[in-house]
Amino acid sequence: MKKVGVVGVGYVGLTQAVGMAQLGHSVIAYDIDVEKITKLNNSNSPFFEPGLEEALIEAQSKNLISFTNDAETLIDAEYIFLCLPTPQDEDGSADLNYLLEAVNEIKDILKPNTYLIIKSTVPVNSWKQVEQIVEREDVFLISNPEFLREGSALFDFHNPDRIVIGATTKEQSQIVAEMYSNLSTEFVLTDNTSAELTKYAANSFLAIKLSFVNDIAALCENLNANSGEVLKGVGLDNRIGNKFLTPGPGWGGSCFPKDVNALARVADREKIMMPLLSAAIESNVNAQNRVIQKIVDKLGDLNGIRIGVLGLAFKANTDDTRNSPAIEIIRKLQALGAVISAYDPAVKAFEGFEVKNDASEVFIDADLLLVLTEWAEFAQIELSSHIQNMRVVNILDTRNIFELDELKKLKVNIIN
Ligand SMILES: NC(=O)c1ccc[n+]([C@@H]2O[C@H](COP(=O)([O-])OP(=O)(O)OC[C@H]3O[C@@H](n4cnc5c(N)ncnc54)[C@H](O)[C@@H]3O)[C@@H](O)[C@H]2O)c1
Repeated sequence: MKKVGVVGVGYVGLTQAVGMAQLGHSVIAYDIDVEKITKLNNSNSPFFEPGLEEALIEAQSKNLISFTNDAETLIDAEYIFLCLPTPQDEDGSADLNYLLEAVNEIKDILKPNTYLIIKSTVPVNSWKQVEQIVEREDVFLISNPEFLREGSALFDFHNPDRIVIGATTKEQSQIVAEMYSNLSTEFVLTDNTSAELTKYAANSFLAIKLSFVNDIAALCENLNANSGEVLKGVGLDNRIGNKFLTPGPGWGGSCFPKDVNALARVADREKIMMPLLSAAIESNVNAQNRVIQKIVDKLGDLNGIRIGVLGLAFKANTDDTRNSPAIEIIRKLQALGAVISAYDPAVKAFEGFEVKNDASEVFIDADLLLVLTEWAEFAQIELSSHIQNMRVVNILDTRNIFELDELKKLKVNIIN
């Protein structure tokens, strides 16, 4: 059992803290947010993530995890994971202030031979900035980027595709790898700079893949080709793979947009042309705008048009709406005069429009039903009874949740 500290108890930090406790380590997790720590001490997860609250309660009952607003309590930790936000700055680069401030706050309480492990997604060579702040030879700086997916974060902790650990010596990275030794996965032990770049490269590659898929789906619509079958045929090529080939209203979330932009800034700085990054971003804006355009083409002037929206989170199984394409699209529809009422299984309120408690309520008096997040439970909605409550039965299902044959049988106006 190792003594583990976690700084920043958000989606990544809480998952890391609970996951480490499940591996049998003793964890103390620190955050500046008083309300969040109070909630956690009462065994409530501050956000929705499948299985996390149950695992938290179990870890607390075994006294393997505790939460604090007092940085001094990290004094005994041998391994400290830094899970601070790195949001996008005005110029597109990553804002390191949260990370650097937190490091500044704890650097003097670290005991000799502490492993200070950066989990936040940071631009290449940020570890050197952290090292300069710490200014101690008896503290080892490790880069261990996080690859979890919100919605399956704890599952991903226990079943990672790989664990990347960057350090200045192989011995240090091996020691940190031992923390995860109960997990069966491939380890990539490398230097700090390569570890940092691996995370940006992976996220940017995924964003480019999704942008390409959305462009192909748009082309299919124009050509009257079946995008599902086209993409299935593409994905059966082993070199491409069948994951991340589902079209949608654009990608979003707290990571892809900022990470693609941040990698573009790194490439600019290094004078390496990476036109695919800006193309992926442009394609993503187009994907969102295509949704608006389809609605305007069908319904004309949107002033006073009532739109029932299913899904607000940026993806299913999370309540995270940061950079959610659903929110971007809703804002654009509102700017055109549309009246929104929305439902999401995990998002219960949002400023600027009504969020209903039940999916059935968004159908009432709607001129259009718009599906924006791929929650599996939407497929269970009994459309035949609810569409009777709509003013006009138009449906735009950007996630292909509903069976096309069923929509045709119900004689709804399908917008595609
Ligand atoms: N969310 C994801 O799916 C995901 C996946 C992989 C990597 N990441 C990366 O991990 C990092 C964290 O992301 P997140 O989504 O968990 O962020 P988050 O915003 O959910 O959580 C960050 C936490 O840090 C706390 N904090 C801020 N300043 C602090 C300070 N000085 N001391 C202590 N705590 C402080 C905040 O109160 C908050 O609870 C980011 O770099 C992100 O890019 C996120």
